[in-house]
Amino acid sequence: MLEADCASVLPRLPAGAFELIYIDPPFNTGQRRRRRRLAVARDDDGDRTGFGGHRYRTQALGETLHYEDSFEDYVAFLRPKLERARELLAPEGTLYVHLDYREAHYVKVELDRIFGRDCFLNEIIWAYDYGAKPTRRWPAKHDTILVYVRNPGEQLFDAEAVEREPYMAPGLVGPRKAARGKRPTDTWWHTIVPTSGRERTGYPTQKPEGVLRRIVAASSRPGGWCLDFFAGSGTLGEVCEQLGRRYVLVDSSPQAIAVIRARLAAATGDAC
Ligand SMILES: C[S@@+](CC[C@H](N)C(=O)[O-])C[C@H]1O[C@@H](n2cnc3c(N)ncnc32)[C@H](O)[C@@H]1O
Repeated sequence: MLEADCASVLPRLPAGAFELIYIDPPFNTGQRRRRRRLAVARDDDGDRTGFGGHRYRTQALGETLHYEDSFEDYVAFLRPKLERARELLAPEGTLYVHLDYREAHYVKVELDRIFGRDCFLNEIIWAYDYGAKPTRRWPAKHDTILVYVRNPGEQLFDAEAVEREPYMAPGLVGPRKAARGKRPTDTWWHTIVPTSGRERTGYPTQKPEGVLRRIVAASSRPGGWCLDFFAGSGTLGEVCEQLGRRYVLVDSSPQAIAVIRARLAAATGDAC
């Protein structure tokens, strides 16, 4: 795990070493990514209504800035990192680039240019349903994950290692198939990280382990090397621990590195 601008780390990593590179760069939302810390207490005169209709009072405890998410030329920011990512992939390696609707189409054109159109493998849509819903347009509730391979046809892809999911209409396929479930397609319905529970670190933009588990299971082997150079809370590392892969995580934010350190210490049973 490295606290550094990935631009300075990528040239020092060994070419051809990684079976899987997953990156979830800042989305260019134009926002500063912060975590607000609130204390909530029962109060009949409180400012919000919670579970069971009870009133609660919230008190702001402060904010932690995690990272800036605004770039004048987003593609220019990513281009050299994507070019180097291609060189870092093993011959059977795969790159997953996690984006939202603001930049996905620009980055896809750039990836076609860098890898070649024949190296495009998939566009995965991760659909979720949470948070505010504007009423003047369709609420945007999906991310796009672009998938490119180093050499078409040579990529690792273990379809059987991916957890199956329930059929949408199990009555149409018969009881045996329904019990076994189906292989996921390129459209993944998956909840966001639950607001409470083991998985949640509090890092803004943390991605769910379930989404990363599919990627790691399909596109790397046990013991293989995986890389995330916009690591955030370290979801790729956590999943690699669970599935027995080796990994390198890089993030320029000291807060991210602190979160990763605590998370992986819990995952591996090491003291911080
Ligand atoms: C969208 S978040 C990643 C979230 C992560 N996938 C997770 O599940 O927690 C993007 C991360 O990129 C980091 N970042 C931004 N610019 C960077 C750079 N030049 N080098 C390394 N990390 C950078 C930010 O600090 C932030 O943690």
